Amino acid sequence: MTLLEIFPSLRSGMPSRLDPAVWPRETHYDDAGRVTVGGVALADIADQYATPTYVIDEDEVRQRCRAYRGAFPDAEISYAGKAMMIRAVAKWVGQEGLSVDVCSAGELAVALAAGIEPGRIVLHGNGKSFDELEAAVRAGVGRIVIDSLTEITMLSALLGRTQQILIRLSPGIDVHGHPAVRTGITDQKFGFPIGSDAAAEAVERVLRRPELDLVGFHCHLGSQIHDPDHYGEAVRRMIAEMAMVRREHDVILTELDLGGGHAVAYRGGDAEMNLAELADVIEDALDAACARHRFPRPRIAVEPGRAIVARAGVTLYRVLSVKHVEGGRTYVTVDGGMGDNARVALYGARYSVVVANRHPECAQMTATVAGRFCEAGDIIAADVRLPVDLRPGEVLAVPCTGAYHHSLASTYNSVGRPPIIAVGGGRCRELLRRETIDDLLRRDIGD
Ligand SMILES: Cc1ncc(COP(=O)(O)O)c(C=O)c1O
Repeated sequence: MTLLEIFPSLRSGMPSRLDPAVWPRETHYDDAGRVTVGGVALADIADQYATPTYVIDEDEVRQRCRAYRGAFPDAEISYAGKAMMIRAVAKWVGQEGLSVDVCSAGELAVALAAGIEPGRIVLHGNGKSFDELEAAVRAGVGRIVIDSLTEITMLSALLGRTQQILIRLSPGIDVHGHPAVRTGITDQKFGFPIGSDAAAEAVERVLRRPELDLVGFHCHLGSQIHDPDHYGEAVRRMIAEMAMVRREHDVILTELDLGGGHAVAYRGGDAEMNLAELADVIEDALDAACARHRFPRPRIAVEPGRAIVARAGVTLYRVLSVKHVEGGRTYVTVDGGMGDNARVALYGARYSVVVANRHPECAQMTATVAGRFCEAGDIIAADVRLPVDLRPGEVLAVPCTGAYHHSLASTYNSVGRPPIIAVGGGRCRELLRRETIDDLLRRDIGD
């Protein structure tokens, strides 16, 4: 018999093995040894809503918004909706004073349905269709970020009033990391390379159109950036470019949008962006660059997505089988996988996993948590520590799955996407229902 079995009350005081760097701050073990988030046992959510299921802690999202507001009191903070775009989340961030950036007519519709004031919506995207531009103009979005010369023509044709415009530049900053997320380098699909003829032409064309009001430049350096100095360098380069626009066109741009990409920790020990340091670096770089070019300080905007919602999210799975391969690994197969978490296959992302329905006080084994989809690469987490006596039916929880999980989810293998359940104050509620087989069949018109 263990000490915990003799004295169950010891459990609540037990040192948590749940790393606060990757779990919502209101994550604990309850008296029964189960993991709770926002006061709700994850195992109860699994029972009530089935699995796989995304859980999101509303307070954690709101706290992250406040942390940004505190660190950047004078900046516009725009939530990058691509991280997780559902009405409830858009409403929470809006209530916390953030703007919302969208990159499709669908995201725009969700933001509007959530009651975000159109003037606080920014439209992005390297491939905006005419219809999407039209929807944004009709809605009256605050800013449109121009990504190609074609967009300038399309917008001019559409507009019956003045539209504020930012031009996206790639500042030639390589933050390294996975090729799919290095968007600051010049040879990639987004924006115009800084200092290029194409960038100069975009500026000229926009300035020639009276209905386009060029208010500033935009850049986005990439994802999972933990070194704030990259943003300092971006400020220096972008201010130099703004000073050049003043020299050549006698126009003073007043806004500088530095994009998002602030790193979060997916596993204990991962580097994350320190917001206070980031704010200091941006301030110092702005002071120095504006002084050097005698340029008036522009208003700064930042666009965090992941850093607002990642740590607020937890994904729940049920164990389907535990397979010990002779001479190989132990595979714990769960009822989700790459359909609800594409990041492992896309970016080689690494996660931690815990058993959520009991405290893992027993001996541990090293196991690979595998998804249920028909791809050998459908692995959720390789070489994680789980109880040796893990059984089918138990609930596993994967932290830091709030960003780019639901938004990247697919219906591969005709498996519907999971629901999203909000937790907070000891209660839970469904924000998005599970996609059912009927939903899938309804789309399929047949022969
Ligand atoms: C233009 C732009 N802004 C902001 C973001 C948000 O990035 P993150 O979620 O890494 O903060 C992205 C992500 O791709 C982006 O493309």
